[in-house]
Amino acid sequence: MSSASTQRVLTGVTTTGILHLGNYVGAIRPAIAASREEGIESFFFLADYHALIKCDDPARIERSRMQIAATWLAAGLDPARVVFYRQSDIPEIPELTWLLTCVTSKGQMNRAHAYKGAVDANVAAGGDPDAGITMGLYSYPILMAADILMFNAHRVPVGKDQVQHIEMARDVAQRFNHLFGNGREFFVLPEANVEPEMELLPGLDGRKMSKSYDNSVPLFEGGEKALREAIARVVTDSKLPGEPKEPEGSTLIALFDPFATAEERAAFRAELRAGLGWGDAKQRLFEQVNRHIGPMRARYDTLMAHPEQLEEILQQGAQRARAIAAPFLATLREAVGLRRFQPLAAAAAAPVAKAKAALPVFKQYREADGQFYFKLSAADGRVLLQSQAFAGGRDTGEWVKRLKTEGATALAGAPVAKGEGVADSELADALAALVAAEAA
Ligand code: TRP
Repeated sequence: MSSASTQRVLTGVTTTGILHLGNYVGAIRPAIAASREEGIESFFFLADYHALIKCDDPARIERSRMQIAATWLAAGLDPARVVFYRQSDIPEIPELTWLLTCVTSKGQMNRAHAYKGAVDANVAAGGDPDAGITMGLYSYPILMAADILMFNAHRVPVGKDQVQHIEMARDVAQRFNHLFGNGREFFVLPEANVEPEMELLPGLDGRKMSKSYDNSVPLFEGGEKALREAIARVVTDSKLPGEPKEPEGSTLIALFDPFATAEERAAFRAELRAGLGWGDAKQRLFEQVNRHIGPMRARYDTLMAHPEQLEEILQQGAQRARAIAAPFLATLREAVGLRRFQPLAAAAAAPVAKAKAALPVFKQYREADGQFYFKLSAADGRVLLQSQAFAGGRDTGEWVKRLKTEGATALAGAPVAKGEGVADSELADALAALVAAEAA
């Protein structure tokens, strides 16, 4: 199935709450369509370990993971094509999380948006900065990196808010490859695919559809009745039946379009311009959406009534996922030194003995602006330190020399900035290694 050109696409859904129409149009439908393309191997999973970070209500966790599993299958996910599993059925994922945790710099986690947002909110409220913040929230991006790296995904379709997490996964992957790879790249560096559609569908009030705004249209839960009631709440202007209405920009049209053909869209617009009443228009919208999702809802209800079928499908998915994860994790354990005991002499003679860690390097250069700069790069190419511009090359030389002989103490007052995501400790270690090399 997998060949050199096969692209692995992986995405997870945190299993808290239920899915709404916006999730369907923005995430589920495009993901299922993409999974049918040639040359793509898809991995979809229920991020139920992530759900535990946000929710300590067991009944809600149980309900939500079942509902979301049933939703994806009802919407057309083909478990024969897609590796479809629950994160919590793959014990290799938390194990990989630990291996990655041990090479992740704390400073980088301090900068994760979700954690920083929670700290900022605490500070703004005048409380303890870490009030109510669990280690789960803090380490969230490492668990997510393990989800992705476990299967060497090339592409990860996500919303904008998740892009930083993918960048963190790349960093951690790079670091692990560098530390333990001995020239071998264990992990593919994943890329975020930001789905523009994810923002497309407005909620009932015209703002982005979101459970937290209470403006969402449930996808299947509550049946036709809930769909009809939600659509009745779509905000419109106060034009009366018979008055011409401007369809463009209206929430009603935005909800209609993703479920309609080009002809249907044109016809609906024409009727609104000709004075169709908002009440009738809402009925039209209801029918259109329901025609589309009604058959799926029937499948959803059947699956929800047969949890054993869902269980069976997910167990099979877990088997397929573990067939990939288990041997890969064995390789990674071996790489970090968690090996079967053997005579140490033999182990030392083996080629796995680690190459001497490569030193970071200073580079001095001149930019097109005519100014002089220097930077310090780690052996894996990441920029640890970047200088400001200098008028002359002599200044850069002097600073580089000071940093190489005095190490981190020379940083105070140096016209430099740390590289993105670089921790103070990593920078200090890098400079200490250079000082030691200089002195040797
Ligand atoms: N954090 C993602 C979200 O809240 C869910 C998720 C967990 C995920 N692990 C992932 C998405 C791995 C993509 C890849 O939306």
